Amino acid sequence: MKFGIFMLTIIALFSTGYGWNNGLLLKPPMGWMSWMKYACNIDCKRYPHECIDEQLYKDMIDHLASDGYFEAGYKTVNIDDCWSEHARDPTTSRLVPDRIRFPNGIHSLAQYAHNKQIELGIYSDVGTLTCGGYPGTRDNQGHDYTLIDAQTFSEWEVDSLKLDGCYQEKEMYNVTYPEFTKALAQQKHKIAYACSWPAYLGLVPDDVYKQIRENCNYWRNYGDIVDSWNSVSTIINFYGEHGNQYAKFHGPGGWFDPDMLIIGNDGLSYEQSKTQMAFWCLWSAPLLMSNDLRNIRPEMKEILLNKHLIAIDQDRLGIMGTRVWKTKNYEQSVWAKKLSRDGSGPDPYAIIYYNTNTLGVPSFMSHRLSDIIPNLNTTVNYSVYDLYDDYKKIAELKAHDILTMKVKTSGSVRMVKLVPEV
Ligand SMILES: *[C@@H]1O[C@H](CO)[C@@H](O)[C@H](O)[C@H]1NC(C)=O
Ligand SMILES: *[C@@H]1O[C@H](CO)[C@@H](O)[C@H](O)[C@H]1NC(C)=O
Ligand SMILES: *[C@@H]1O[C@H](CO)[C@@H](O)[C@H](O)[C@H]1NC(C)=O
Repeated sequence: MKFGIFMLTIIALFSTGYGWNNGLLLKPPMGWMSWMKYACNIDCKRYPHECIDEQLYKDMIDHLASDGYFEAGYKTVNIDDCWSEHARDPTTSRLVPDRIRFPNGIHSLAQYAHNKQIELGIYSDVGTLTCGGYPGTRDNQGHDYTLIDAQTFSEWEVDSLKLDGCYQEKEMYNVTYPEFTKALAQQKHKIAYACSWPAYLGLVPDDVYKQIRENCNYWRNYGDIVDSWNSVSTIINFYGEHGNQYAKFHGPGGWFDPDMLIIGNDGLSYEQSKTQMAFWCLWSAPLLMSNDLRNIRPEMKEILLNKHLIAIDQDRLGIMGTRVWKTKNYEQSVWAKKLSRDGSGPDPYAIIYYNTNTLGVPSFMSHRLSDIIPNLNTTVNYSVYDLYDDYKKIAELKAHDILTMKVKTSGSVRMVKLVPEV
């Protein structure tokens, strides 16, 4: 009897103790999220099709399910801020969905999604208020609703939670985020857990990323993306500077999140849209679109559905590709990522050539493969496939050979896959 209890305690310690192991997100999440495109627009009278309400999420669930996105791998629709009433239920202390904008509640919306094999994500905040001013996980009277909220989300059968970090002291994140991890681990319904913890701390040392990885399935680590090339290019440079540190903590079950894909909106040119997709896939980043799936240009949709790129993102090793070469002024750079292989033989790789020169003349960029990827096998031939040109084979090279590609300007890329011929 005593021994039985002892064994149960041991098992409990191993299953909920060291490390975050809910078994979720062994590949980076793919889906849709409302924030960048719809923010906290709650004026449904003036903006009936662009406000945060039940119909918006139903529309996106429908389009994800029916327009080819689901087949390509996109499967979660994430509610962001501004979905709740301004006060908790006075008797149960539970969060309450806005009664006018979500008349059927969140559980019913989750069921609507699940009927179409789509998952539903929700948003909350570890602090006293969400960033938009709605109730957070705590209040100013010292109440902590962590367990109640985790229970509520589980009962609503939501599949994912983005927990923001507004209205809380930075010193508390390493306490409050792990508390929510524990509360989620006790629930019946499995919920993927996205933390904004490092986004509010800036750069942190390795031990903090280790702790974040042990508690979260993915985490924002930089400012909010907005609908502009300036925003995207700043994020690319930031990952160029810090990718070597991040890559150590990035992989199956735990992902750095450079924020939403803004492809399909007004801020990026066609070439810049290809560039955002290329980098997010090179990093094995979450692919969470924030756009209007009801109204999207076909060429932008084609980028989002590019199966060769998505395969790079979803590669089972989940390695974050890094910058391996750049000019002093950052105008041109080269990036590389190791990919998984079937069976034995040399590893395949993905490579990006990136050109931000703004004079309209395209540039030929030329690099010896072994200079950018020192680990290449020196005896085999590598076939070079263009990931944006129907997977066309553009060369067959050995490690000491030079890969030359013509790259357009103003934030354009060429992205290829090197496949060893054995
Ligand atoms: C949390 O971070 C603070 C510094 O901000 C540190 O003093 C404290 O020891 C950390 N606590 C844990 C549990 O890691
Ligand atoms: C290079 O690849 C070939 C073919 O798979 C293999 O026989 C050889 O051992 C590899 N060389 C090195 C140094 O790994
Ligand atoms: C490697 O590629 C070169 C150049 O395309 C070709 O001449 C050679 O036959 C190839 N070698 C093998 C082993 O396929």
